[in-house]
This record gives sequence, C-alpha cells and structure tokens, in this order.
Amino acid sequence: MKRLTFLAGLFLAGCMALPAQVHLTSPGLSLILEAEPGQKARFVYFGPRLAEADVKTVLETEKKHDAYPAYGMGFSTPPAMAATHADGNMSTELRVESVATDSLDGSVVTRIRLKDPVYPFNVDLCYRVWNDADVIETWTETVHKEKKPVVLTQFASGWLPVQRGDVWLSSLSGSWGNEGMLTHEKLTPGVKSIRNYDGVRNSQASHAEVMLSLDGKPSETQGRVIGAALCYSGNFDVSVATEPGKYHYLSAGIDPANSSYSLPAGEVFATPALALTYSDEGTSGASRNFHRWARKHRIAHGDRLRKILLNSWEGIYFDVNEPVVEEMMGDIASMGGELFVLDDGWFGEKYPRVDDKGGLGDWTIDRKKLPDGISNLLKSADAKGIKFGIWIEPEMANVRSELYEKHPDWIIKAPNREPVYGRGGGQLVLDLGNPEVQDFVFGVFDRLMTEYPAIDYIKWDANMNVKNHGSQYLKPSEQSKLYINYHRGFENVCRRIREKYPDVTVQACASGGGRANYGVLPWFDEFWVSDNTDPVQRVFMQWGTSYFFPAITQASHISASPCHATHRATPMKYRIDVAMSGRLGMEMQPKHMTDDEKEMCRRAIAQYKEIRPVVQLGDQYRLHSPYEGDGLASMMYVSEDKNDGVFFWWKTDYLYNHCDARVPMAGLDPGKTYRVTELNRIDNSPLPCEGKTYTGAYLMANGLDMPMRHDVAVEKMSDYQSRVLRLTAE
Ligand code: DGJ
Repeated sequence: MKRLTFLAGLFLAGCMALPAQVHLTSPGLSLILEAEPGQKARFVYFGPRLAEADVKTVLETEKKHDAYPAYGMGFSTPPAMAATHADGNMSTELRVESVATDSLDGSVVTRIRLKDPVYPFNVDLCYRVWNDADVIETWTETVHKEKKPVVLTQFASGWLPVQRGDVWLSSLSGSWGNEGMLTHEKLTPGVKSIRNYDGVRNSQASHAEVMLSLDGKPSETQGRVIGAALCYSGNFDVSVATEPGKYHYLSAGIDPANSSYSLPAGEVFATPALALTYSDEGTSGASRNFHRWARKHRIAHGDRLRKILLNSWEGIYFDVNEPVVEEMMGDIASMGGELFVLDDGWFGEKYPRVDDKGGLGDWTIDRKKLPDGISNLLKSADAKGIKFGIWIEPEMANVRSELYEKHPDWIIKAPNREPVYGRGGGQLVLDLGNPEVQDFVFGVFDRLMTEYPAIDYIKWDANMNVKNHGSQYLKPSEQSKLYINYHRGFENVCRRIREKYPDVTVQACASGGGRANYGVLPWFDEFWVSDNTDPVQRVFMQWGTSYFFPAITQASHISASPCHATHRATPMKYRIDVAMSGRLGMEMQPKHMTDDEKEMCRRAIAQYKEIRPVVQLGDQYRLHSPYEGDGLASMMYVSEDKNDGVFFWWKTDYLYNHCDARVPMAGLDPGKTYRVTELNRIDNSPLPCEGKTYTGAYLMANGLDMPMRHDVAVEKMSDYQSRVLRLTAE
C-alpha cells in the first residue's frame, strides 16, 4: 500500500490525488472527495464521470458534506458511526491523517485514514474502483489503541448525500413465497429505514439494495438513477433521511440494533462493502451496471454458464428412494438436462429425515431410502451423461438429531431459557460464531466432497431465523456480538470451502429467496429466487430481483401445474417461457408429465442451450414492467457484441380482445440487421415476423406486433399468452 503525501498532480489509474482532492473514477463514474490533512474528509460529488475541466470547478462550487459523519461533535446530519470510548466519552471526531492507494486485481483501493485528534482511534474510509465496471465499493475499517475496549454502536458501510428534488426510492420486499416484490415511493420528509432482523437470512422480508431515481417516478429506460447494494448477508439497516435542507442522506450498513460491538485495542472492525452505481439510462441502466460488475467481480463463477437441472423437491419432497431418483435422473437426461439435484430427505440414521421434524445435523445417508448410497447415484448419473448435486442445511440442527444430543451447547439459545423452535417445531440454529461449529459446518461440506468428489453442485439451505438471542460460546459481556459473529463465522466457512473447492457450483437457498444478496455471492453461484414457482408471480419476483441481480444468479424452474404454492393452473408453454428468462431448471416429477409436455421441455432445453450465453452473460433491458398493472411484462437480453438478442413477452393478466401496448426493443445495434425466430412455438401458423429481418433501429423504434392470442386448437387455448423471440444479427 502506497501512502500518499499530498503532492499536487499525482495521477494513478482509477484515482487521482491532488492536494486534498481524491477523484475516484471508473469508466463511467466519478466520486470526488476532499481530504485535507487535519480536516474532516468531505464528500463533493458522485455521478457520471467528470471531465478534468469540471473537477476543479466542482470542487470550488459544490456543497461539501462530511464524508463519514461521526456522532457527537458538531454534526448536523444523521451520523454514519458512533462509538463509546474507553473512558465513556460518546463523541468521536474524525480528521484526515493520510490517503493511500493500492492496485488490486484490476481495481484501485483508496484508503482515507481518519483519526480522532484526542483518542488513539482510527477509521479508514475505503473505496474500491474497477477499471472495467461502473460500481464503486465503499466500506470502513476501525481500529484503536485505547486502554479498554471501545463500544461501537453505529457502523454504516457508506454514507451518501443526494440532492433533493423529485427523488423516488425503489426497494424490494416480500415474504416466503413472495420474495423480491418491487415498490417505488417518493421520498418525503422523515427517515425511510429498510431493516432486517432475521439473523440468518436477510432478503425474504426486505432487501439490502435500493435505487434512487432522481428525475421523478422511476422509468426502466430513462432518467438518472443511483443504485446502492450492501454486500452483506446479516441484519442490515439501509436508511434514507430526508431532513430540512437540500439533501437526502443515504446510509447503509450492519444493523446496530442489539449488536453494539465492544472492540478491543488492535482488532480491526471492517464493515461490509456498499456497492454504489449511477446510470442515466433509468433503473434498467443501473441494473446493468450491477449485473456487469457482479458477473465480473462479485459472483462465484460469474462468467461460467450454468447447467440445466432437475431438482427433486417439488417432484417428490421427502419421499426420496433409489428407484424414484434413478427414474428422475433418466428423465432429465432424456430431456437434454445436464444435472440432477437431490433435495432434502436423503439423510439421517437414528432420526431419518422423513419430514421436517428430525434429522438435521446428521449428515449420514439414510440407507433405508438409498441402500446403495450416493456413490451409486453418482455412477448412475455419470452413465446417463449428467452430473449430480445434493442438498444440505449445515447451519441447522433438529432437537431430534444425534448432533443435538452430542452438542446441545452448539445451538443459539440464551442460558436459563427453553429454546423457541423453528421449522417443524424442532429446528434450531447452530452458533456459527463458535469456531467448533464452524469446523463442523465446514466438515459437512468437506466430508461430502471428499467422499464423493464427483458431486458437481451443492444446494445450501437455511430455513430458520435467530429466534433465541443467546450465544453459549460468547462471554456474557459479549452477547451483543451474536449476529455479527454469526456472519463472520459463516463467511469464514464459505472462504474455507472455496479455498478447497473452487469449482463446485453452490446454490444459496434460504426458505426460498432468503439469501439473495451480494454478501453470499462471492462464494455462491446463484440463489433460489423463491419456493413459489408459479410463473405469473415469478414474472413479478424475477423482475424485482433483476433490479440488482443478473439472470445467471436467478434459479428459475419449470414446475407442475397447478402450482403447489398458488394452485394456479398455467400452460406448459407459459411456465417454460418464464423459466427460460433466468437460470433454467425443472422442479417436478417428470413421470407425471404427458409425452407432449416432455417433448416441449426437450425442445425448450435444446433452445435454451442456444440462448443461454445471451440470457446468462448478456445485458438485460427491462422494457415493460408488470408493475405497471396493465397485464403485460416484457424484457430482453442482448449479447455484449450485440449480435444476439432474446426478447421475452408475457401476459400477466388476460382480458379478451384487450389491445396490449406494442413494446419497442432496446440494447440492439441500430445499424445491424436481425433475423427473428420464435422459440417454444405452439401456434399453428408462424408469426408474421418469423424468419424476417429488421434493423436494430426499426426494432428499437417500433418493436414487433404480438398477437392477442395463440393460434392453437380450442382445447389448447388458455388465458396465458407468452412469446420468446430470438434475434440473430445477419
Ligand atoms: C426450503 C427450500 O426453499 C426448498 O427449495 C427445499 O429445499 C426445502 N427447503 C427442503 O426442505
């Protein structure tokens, strides 16, 4: 790490430091700070990349804000951090001591060291800018040399002033089976705080990512938008304070509620990164920035195409047995799938996992269900030409488990209290803050992979929140570290797993979409969006989720009709057309499918293989939002070279002879000519555009006409219409 003296005119890739000026740049973004030694660090500007000619003037004329306001000394805005020093003083003052920069894997990290003039207490304000992605990450690292621990009571990762006007907040919220639902609301005076207090999973009820549209009601395609994503999987607080004056103040970080942190001298308290982006191409533009950054720098294997899989859960639930599994593997292989994932129900000897009431913690094969074990299934998968994956929930135990009998002290629970149970009336969370528990959880993964190195995919589930505050590992005086230590423990385990098993694909599932966050994605390849596989509701959930997460992370499965969650019946074509817009998979018992349905899936899987690079690695353009409420949703993906595109069009509501808006396309090269081919076609006659060529300019100005209904025999008519068009540059 180079520590810069404050010399004028010093240029570094991605960061220019002038006396007291820090200009952080990505290809399209600028973030400007003032870091005068001995003074507070000041935030000056965040937005589109500035020409050097403007930087000087902006520095002279723009209002400057404390870049990381500390509680207790002359503050006039909500604080980003607060601490009680060893002598009981609750005020902190942070002054610039130095600025240092370092290059790191295609990025530049800038560290503004802030120091309290009275106490030996430092906060490093850190920024990471990428050479090839328009996202700037910010976080802090706090350390001190006071005589006794300092208690941190507030610790935002980042803090950003945003000028007031007609500013709207977009955020995701929901519940089990209803994750990732999108809300747009105008910011009004007061504090809008989005929090999570689950303890384990943090994206079911709310999400740690937001967008701020600066030009009024959010548009998918136009207007200036700031995006912020907290890269954390634990409890968080993302708040926007709108106070008297000209600014909103966005702050995001670990939720300090019940989590004050007693920091001993010498220990570094690092907050998770807050990823910031900006686009003037509407919310879709901000999403594309997140997606590109995520695929390049944040997701495990963000550049690797995902396999098409069949997951056993909705097909057989706990009724795992060898012949059925064999048959399912044969079925997915015959439809062209590439992977079979054996979900819950395969383990437990003393307490077999026949339902959700027992067995969690005992990761030994249930030989009654699988007499020939996993080796045999792996061999058989191999013979069928597919890979094999398996489900675990290693952070949890059931009271009815050998694990709990041996280690009752490993569960999260307060002393002197009876535990409150979770799923099935007998589930408990293991205390991942305890290093022995970390070894155990790592061991669950490690043993499976050591014994069965051919396992290609692990589905890692987590189906309970922290219902009992109390660590049997932490000292009484440290109980408020429970949540933070849990997630540090979780990250340690993930890090160890990835060091040893860099290649295996790992899915983050947590009662559905409870772990859709950038805290887990460095170690996980994807997440399960929701236990609700109803395609109509999935259009809404996947739309919302795509605000922050690319298609490659969104596991999207074709399931049975009626849907087990909503009991809504939908045609196979519609289920396929929705699932193909994410990471395609299946989640049903193929033996209950008709031959026609199997044939449709076989064809869809073959076609998905062709469009997979565009869907999974391309840029997403959301065109017509289902949240508009007019019964139509449409979006498309375009490859980076703009030679390939896939256009999705789904009706989410049906009124007979209702005329839908025509949807202009986006993201194409206006000068290229594209040939149109309909995928998953069921109509007797082709669409008028079938096989025809159009310029990108035409398609982006006019779109293509979509008929009101499918041209199929009366008995095949339904109230669900959908289209998928492939666009190939000539
Ligand atoms: C919850 C998950 O979301 C489901 O997909 C499934 O894996 C079950 N757990 C298994 O118990």
